[in-house]
Amino acid sequence: GLGGGGSGSMTIVPGTAPGFPPFETKQGGEIVGFDIDLLSAVVSNTDYELESWKDFEFSSLTPALKNDKIDVIAAAMTINEKRDESIDFTNPYYSADQAVLVRKGASSPPSEFAGLAGRTVGVQEGTTGASVVEKQLVKPGKIAQSKFNTYGNYVLAVEDLVNRNLDAVVLDTPVARTFVDRRAVTIAATYETGEKYGFGVRTDADDLTKALNDGLKQVRNGSKYEEIRDEWFAG
Ligand code: ARG
Repeated sequence: GLGGGGSGSMTIVPGTAPGFPPFETKQGGEIVGFDIDLLSAVVSNTDYELESWKDFEFSSLTPALKNDKIDVIAAAMTINEKRDESIDFTNPYYSADQAVLVRKGASSPPSEFAGLAGRTVGVQEGTTGASVVEKQLVKPGKIAQSKFNTYGNYVLAVEDLVNRNLDAVVLDTPVARTFVDRRAVTIAATYETGEKYGFGVRTDADDLTKALNDGLKQVRNGSKYEEIRDEWFAG
């Protein structure tokens, strides 16, 4: 954890939630993706050094950070007021909205977000996708609680969609587009949320937050950011 030892550089433990391509996925037991490469590039511009990645379910990342199991969250995590009450965020590094993913060739798919009323919907637990469906559709009684399914990750949700156990999955637009490339699914509608992703840090780690912001600035000013983006968002 933070502090490292002796004369060496300060080490930090990064945490993520794989199953969110192309930001973080597991490939042959190894965690890879845009967030992994971006954080590595950012940290290489600082006095810190990254230890090996730890993976958690998305909803466990904030507790893991607060309990010192990890020192930084790199998990396509949207900066929002509620989360900002318990952790700090770096400056934003990526933008997203929400997408309604359906099976390719599905009959009468919803043509807008509100069209999800009465359907069976899947989301990943603890995400902004989950809260937007809950707030707009479940709480107002447009989707029954029994038709609102939460999963540990979006790979499982999309699997259930393909297997016809769900009518739709609601998730971040860049990840929805990645699933469209890989599975027999398509985007039926989008819902504008204007989300921005940041790396999460403990509220008492101001030096680290500042170093990451400086490192991120350097990555964005040079060609490194585009390089990493082109590698993971090709096509
Ligand atoms: N951006 C969304 C959020 O912050 C979803 C993030 C999910 N990330 C992941 N690694 N599974 O709630």
